[in-house]
Amino acid sequence: MRKLTYFVACSIDGFIGAPDGDASSMFAFLDEEFLGYLAAQWPDTIPVQGREQLGLKGAENLHFDTVVQGRASYQLALDAGVTSPYGHLREYVASRSLGTSPDPNVTVIEEDLVGRIRELKAEEGELGIWLCGGSQVAGELLDEIDELVIKTYPQVYGAGMPMFGTGFAVTDFTLEDVRTFGNGVVVRTYARKR
Ligand SMILES: NC(=O)c1ccc[n+]([C@@H]2O[C@H](COP(=O)([O-])OP(=O)(O)OC[C@H]3O[C@@H](n4cnc5c(N)ncnc54)[C@H](OP(=O)(O)O)[C@@H]3O)[C@@H](O)[C@H]2O)c1
Repeated sequence: MRKLTYFVACSIDGFIGAPDGDASSMFAFLDEEFLGYLAAQWPDTIPVQGREQLGLKGAENLHFDTVVQGRASYQLALDAGVTSPYGHLREYVASRSLGTSPDPNVTVIEEDLVGRIRELKAEEGELGIWLCGGSQVAGELLDEIDELVIKTYPQVYGAGMPMFGTGFAVTDFTLEDVRTFGNGVVVRTYARKR
């Protein structure tokens, strides 16, 4: 079984963005040390424009060969004129409204999202599946998530878009790794307790 990993950025109080999803306040923490860490350890998660700037064009994928996004998250790329933000991965976008995929590298999942993710997890392969977000899709896929990698930025939002758009239910995880950075960012890795 391949792992489904929710690799996500959030505030101290667990919001992945403002109430409308805007997470631009977090960009201030992409300094040399933290960006260097992301480029070295998580190059797979850097979108096409960033990869060029960071000299990662053609870099090997270290964790993932597939990314899953909700349409609202993917819309940010479309609005910027990019139809394949993670062209170095197989891209899946959950959407009932998109219709035909705007890019040959992007597969639209219209029905049975959980079933499609289970099929992807059941494939053979060394690399895993990155659940990019957002909140709604992460909430629907919570039961399928095997690992959390949470980049916590030292900011309190007070309100905003939760990490999981779902109802109350306790799900246990085991802390596997913690990395701290000079600018106050903390990256925690948790494994799902099954
Ligand atoms: N901080 C971070 O690391 C991070 C990461 C990712 C995203 N974000 C933020 O998250 C925000 C978006 O999150 P969100 O919760 O609003 O939306 P989302 O989860 O990205 O996308 C929701 C959309 O996905 C589609 N969808 C959901 N469930 C589906 C299902 N079962 N089958 C088929 N399609 C399904 C629907 O698209 P249709 O309407 O087309 O049917 C739905 O409107 C963005 O603003 C982004 O900035 C933050």
